[in-house]
This record gives sequence, C-alpha cells and structure tokens, in this order.
Amino acid sequence: MRTETPVAVKLADYTPYPFDMDHVELSFELDPDATKVTAELKVTRKAGAGNAPLELDGEALKLVSVEIDGRALTPSDYSLTEHGLTLADVPDQFTLRTVVVIAPSKNTALSGLYMSGGRFCSQCESVGFRRITYYPDRPDVMSRFFVTIVADKEACPIMLSNGTPGDVKDAGNGRHTITWDDPHKKPSYLFALCAGDYDVYRDSFTTMSGKHIDLAIHVDKGDADRAAWAMDSLKRSMTWDEQTYGREYDLGVFNIVAVRDFNFGAMENKGLNVFNSAYVLADEDSATDADFEAIESIVAHEYFHNWTGNRITCRDWFQLCLKEGLTVFRDQNFSADMRSRPVQRIKDVIRLRSRQFAEDAGPLAHPVRPDNYGSIDNLYTATVYEKGAEVIGMLRRIIGEETYRKGMDLYFERHDGQAVTIEDFYKCFEDVTGKDFTQFRLWYAQAGTPRVTVEESWDEATKELTINLSQTTPPTPGQPDKKPVPIPLELAVLDGKGGTDAWMTVLDTAETTITRKAAAGRPLLSVNRDFSAPVRVERDLTRDQRLALVVAETDPFNQWEGVRTLVTEEILKLSEGSQTRPDSELVGAIAAAIRNAGDDPALAALLTRLPEVGELFLEREPADPVALHSARKRLQAALAEALSDTVGTTLEAPSPAPYAPSAEQAGVRAFRGACINLLGASEDKDARRKLLVLYQKATNMTERLAAMRALTMHGECPERDEALADFETNWKHNPIVMDKWFAVQAGQGTAETVAELAAHPEFDLKNPNRVRSVVGVFSTANLAAFHAPDGSGYRAVEDIILKADAANPALAARLITAFEQWRVLEPKAGAAAQATLKRLQEAKLSPNSADIVGRALG
Ligand code: ARG
Ligand code: ZN
Repeated sequence: MRTETPVAVKLADYTPYPFDMDHVELSFELDPDATKVTAELKVTRKAGAGNAPLELDGEALKLVSVEIDGRALTPSDYSLTEHGLTLADVPDQFTLRTVVVIAPSKNTALSGLYMSGGRFCSQCESVGFRRITYYPDRPDVMSRFFVTIVADKEACPIMLSNGTPGDVKDAGNGRHTITWDDPHKKPSYLFALCAGDYDVYRDSFTTMSGKHIDLAIHVDKGDADRAAWAMDSLKRSMTWDEQTYGREYDLGVFNIVAVRDFNFGAMENKGLNVFNSAYVLADEDSATDADFEAIESIVAHEYFHNWTGNRITCRDWFQLCLKEGLTVFRDQNFSADMRSRPVQRIKDVIRLRSRQFAEDAGPLAHPVRPDNYGSIDNLYTATVYEKGAEVIGMLRRIIGEETYRKGMDLYFERHDGQAVTIEDFYKCFEDVTGKDFTQFRLWYAQAGTPRVTVEESWDEATKELTINLSQTTPPTPGQPDKKPVPIPLELAVLDGKGGTDAWMTVLDTAETTITRKAAAGRPLLSVNRDFSAPVRVERDLTRDQRLALVVAETDPFNQWEGVRTLVTEEILKLSEGSQTRPDSELVGAIAAAIRNAGDDPALAALLTRLPEVGELFLEREPADPVALHSARKRLQAALAEALSDTVGTTLEAPSPAPYAPSAEQAGVRAFRGACINLLGASEDKDARRKLLVLYQKATNMTERLAAMRALTMHGECPERDEALADFETNWKHNPIVMDKWFAVQAGQGTAETVAELAAHPEFDLKNPNRVRSVVGVFSTANLAAFHAPDGSGYRAVEDIILKADAANPALAARLITAFEQWRVLEPKAGAAAQATLKRLQEAKLSPNSADIVGRALG
C-alpha cells in the first residue's frame, strides 16, 4: 500500500485510444493460487494515430511471455511497470499474445478475479480487468470477446462467462473446458468469469419478437429455492423494458451468479450479472419486505443496464452518470409501476436527501459529471447515481413522456454499439425537440443543491396570488459561483375543498414572479409537487399555515412532505431547548394524519417514520447529534402515546396470511412494523414484554426483525437479550440473516457495542457485507453514538477501517466517507472527527482511502 494521493485524471485530457482491438481471445486455466491467463489481441493502428506506442494497463500480474505475431519478445522489447506494459515499436496490424499468472485466492481487494466461498468470480468495473491481463482497460475500447475456461471438473462443474456457451469438453487430468462467445462488442469492464459448484434455479423467457431465452440464477448449495423472487423480478424487468422502452434482450442466455463477498450491490456484466448474494436470496423466513423490494429493484437495475450501459456505454469514466443516473431513473420507474408511485417517490426522496443532499453540502461535493477525479472507485456516489436519476426525471418532466421516449428511441438507434458522452445523449433530445439543452446541462456541471425561495402575497381586490420564486446554489469545493439552472416546479393553488389548479413552471432565471387568479378566497400554494426538482424549498410559513396546507394538500408526495416539515421543525425546537416537551396539538395533528392515511398503510407507515438524525443535519449548523437523537426520541414517545390505541388494534390483528411479497401485503406489514417501532420508543411499562411476544410469534422476518430492533431501542434488558440470543441460535448458519443481527445492534448501541461485535467470532474483515453491517451501520445510522462528543465512536471504527483498508481499499474508502460531515458538527465531536481524519492521513492508506481523507479534510 502506498500513501501517495492519486494524481487527478481530467476530463479535458481525454484522447481516443490509438488502436482498434476488435477481437480478443482469452484463455483461463483456473487455479486458486496460480491461474494462467493467455490473451490474444488483434490490434490495428487507427488511421492518423502516428507512431503511438501500444500502452496496456496491468496490475498485480506476473508476466510470463509476450509475443507479436508468434515471435517471442525479450524484456528489452518492452517496458514493464507496476501499472502496465508498453510496446514502443509495433506494426500497424498484428496479433499480440501475452501470458500472465494471477492468484485469485490472494485477491482480497475483490477487484479482478478472486475467490468467494471457494468459487471463482470477477468484478471488473471500473478498473479490475487490468488485474486479470494486460489490456487497454478503458470503456471506449470495445471488442468481441472469445473466452476459453479450463478448470477442475469437481471443483468447477459450472464455468460461466459472457455471451453464448459452447459444449463442455474433457481436458484431461480431471479437468474440463468450455468456450464462451459474446457477439456484442464490449469494453473490458463488462467482462466476467464465474466458476464453481452452484445450485441453479432455472426458468425461461420469450421476448416480444418470440425469441427463447434461458434464464439461470447460480447460488450457494442449498439456496436455490431462495432465488425464486429474483427470477420473478428478472422476468418482470424484461417485460417492462419491452413495454416501456421497446428494448428486447439480445442473447440466448441470461445468467446471474450470487456471490457472498462483493464490494457493491451488483454488476451488469454482459449476459452474466454478478450479484451480492444479499440482493438475490429471499424468502419469507429469512428476508424482510425491504429486502424483497431491494432485490426487485437491483435485479431490474442490472438488467436495464443491458441497453443503458452495455449496448451503449460510456466513452470515459467521467460519463458514469450516462449509464448510472439513467439506469437508476429506469429502475425507480419500474418499481413505481410494480408498487405505488407516490410511495416509491417518497422513498426515493428520503434516500436522495439523506445521502445525496448531505454529500452535496460537504467537502466531497462534486458535479453529476465531474471533470476530474483522484480515484475512480470513489466516484460511484449518490450524486452520480441518485442526483443523476433526478436530472433525467426533470428532463422527462420538461419535455413530456412522449417526447422523452422519442429521444430515447433516437439515442438507442444512433449510438447502439458505441461509447458515448452526456453531450451525445442530449444531442438526441435536442434533435427530437428542436430545443437547446445547454443551460439544462449545467445540472451536470455544477455541484451543490439549489435553494428555491418562495414568497407569496395576496391581493383581495383582484383575487390574485403573486408568487415570487428565486434560486441560488451554494458554493462547493472548487466552484465558488453558480449560475441559475432550469428548475421544473410543479405548483398548484388549493382552495381547501379539494379544488386544485395545478401547473408547471420552469424557473430558469435567478428570480421570477408569477400571478395566479383564484375563484374565491385566498388559496393555499403547493410547491414542488411530486418533488419535481431536487432542490431545497424555503418558505416562511407559520405552524398554522403549514397545518392548514397538510389538510388541504391534494398531492400525495406533498402531503407527506407537509407532515415531514412540521415534524422536523418540532424536533429542532426540542433539540435546541426552546421547547422541552412535544407540543400536544402538533402530536395530535400528526397522529390524525397517520390515522387518516389508514387506507394506504404504506403511506401511513412513512408518515409514522420520523426523519433520521442524519436527515436533520442539514437543517442547522452546528449539528448536535446527541441532542437531535434525544429530541427525536421524545417526539417518538409522544407519538407512541397518542397512537397507542391504533398501535394496539393494529398489532392485535393477525399478519396477512398466507405470506406474499406483494406490494399490498408489504404495505400492511410496513404499518405493523411502524407500530412495532413506536413500541420501541414507548414509555409504556409493558412495551418490552409485548415486543418479546411479537418477536416470538412473528410469522415473517419483517416483523421478527422489527420487534428485535424495537427491543434494542429499549437498551439493555432481559427481553432484548432473549431475542438476540434466540435470533443468533436460529440463524448462525445464514450469513445474510446474521448481517441483520449485527446491524440491529450496531444501529442502537455505543462504541462498546461495536467493539463487542468486532470481537465476535463471526465478524469477518474480509467480508464486505459483514463489515458494513457493523461499521457502516454504526457510522451512518447511529449518529448519536458515532459522533459521541468524547470521540469514542470514532475510535471504535478507526482501527477496523485501517485493517479493512489493507485488504480492501474500495470498502475502506467507502466507510471513511462517514466522516465527511465533521465541519458541521458541534465543536467537540467536530474536533474529534477532524483529529481522526488526520490520524488516518498519517497512516499508510490505500490511494482510494487517501483520496477520501484528503478531500474530506479539504
Ligand atoms: N455498475 C454497477 C451498478 O450497477 C456498480 C459497479 C460498482 N463499481 C465500482 N467500482 N464502484 O451499479
Ligand atoms: Zn448501475
């Protein structure tokens, strides 16, 4: 490991690769400790490329031989560094053959070819392929791949790669071999190889043009039944993309492999998606509704990449949002169609605000399309993904659904098989609309969350409401001054009797004034309905005005938003001591809103869920997590009391049976879970006993886990200990479920809890899910303990992060981002966080982690 901060790569420095490499043959002789990789590349110098040398990326490879057109080269013919292989004088057309040896069993970074659960698997995005062989490891070099795998018959009965398989043949010595041919040209980051002994869940799909596709999900032995939901989600995704975007699948086979040790959620390799097993395996006993929902959306996300990412890919990694923002937008709409659109919107906004708004407000802020980066792994952020999706949503809102589809059709037609840029994408929309999107593309170039200030005045004589709208975007690192961006705002005036006069305005100047005539008295103004733009809206309203707006509101998102705003203001007041007890009138109004939402239990559940401490950080500076946490708890307890009848009757009723993961049943269980959670906050003497009974009688994981979590909210008590012990006994053989056991405790306990969990025999520094279930959960979902003023929370994770970094830089760098908010914290925690970052900086960190620490300290 080096401590050097990586040198920045700049968008402005982009130059095309001087060679075409349209045919690649790879051959793997699999062995955990010494896998031999032979690569044959057909190379052609591009016209006008002069006498540029052939530069190939390569890392952690043992070079055995290099040949050009069958002639062996000697070390004096090339230059070899720890980052690659360069051949200075090469012909205009030739075949390059290299042989390297790699050690998958020693690959703890989980990038390149590695072992997980005794099986071979790979992760190449962004730059893992260079850890497999020497290659131009950049997305704009697209090639047809032919892959041969040779492996031990017993250890690897199944051998998978991209494309279409040939027959399995004997290879002597107890080995066998297979070839895979992927007819679609692709960049190296979409290459994948998986081999081992799996159980397989099979199905098939017939596409809209009648083509038969074999579908298979490969999982750990004994887990096949748990793949049924992922398969169902896959087939629904395939149908949805045909119906919504006219996109059909393009190979005869589609394989998914579930892997226990994985740095991310999943990966869209062509025809061979590799998944973190947590996002494949589910059944009612072992998975919560949230798990089912996440599996559905991630399966869809990776499948949708086949067109937005694979058939059309990115020219360079600065364009990452071209595939990720667009594909998140697509998967969010898929989920909205599968479930409830307003509920999906609310969940997407909660996620956006808690992660992306926070990122945008701190030292790691960057534009959706950055123009430089130190370490590419650190660019897989909420800004690129979630804000990237919001920008596509605004585009669609501004041009309308039909025109959006026309632009997408043109994009698929014009750029199929290419590696392109954001400009290429917007050119398609300019061509179908005749409009200029130059100003709109500022959304890609400017970091920071725009603030929209809304002021209104009413003229009783003319019956006109005058609305003044203005925007500013705060400075972010390297970007002191911002220009106005086009902000599509859905607005409405409400008469309070259900009458809604709705329209959309695109605010594209710093300030504008609109007038709206009302039929009778002064109407109420509803702004940014459906969260039409990812902005912060500032309005100076009294509590009574806000309460009136909640009652009159006709947009489901804004109904939730109205309650949310009231709740947030109340928690802030309580945390600042300007009020000691929750206002009973307000608590009554919230309870009424929750009861009124009774016919949509999923929405009622969302109303019951108070904003997390992290979501309140942006509201006040400095943020005091301990005070916010305690204020939040007091409001929760008051709400539990006000709703105690509802909680009682809801939980007395049986859970829906027989179990189905449907949106409808999930909604019912979500509200039951919200009630269980209120019992966790309740001061009722009997709450613990009730929770233990709920835990014991639960017929599904959603409610069992909710009860266990609610018990941990009560701190140390025999009921909590009993539930935790029982859970551990029942699930110790299932790592995905045990991650929940670790997470529940890390989410409620203290620094000491983290130390205990890290000392548990099942804590495994090499398994990213396990590390995240302790350190990730503690540092992002237990902020009062993580940001403890005495620094104990930071000390609890520091050592784990350092150890993780030595093995797996991508994992550690992600964990360190939890420190990004140190500047907005109350002074004690802030100083302790800064000191921790400085200590980390002094330690020997990987380039990935050094990049985050350096930027966080600014
Ligand atoms: N493309 C994958 C996805 O769908 C994520 C890959 C993450 N890779 C990384 N280096 N962070 O979203
Ligand atoms: Zn993606």
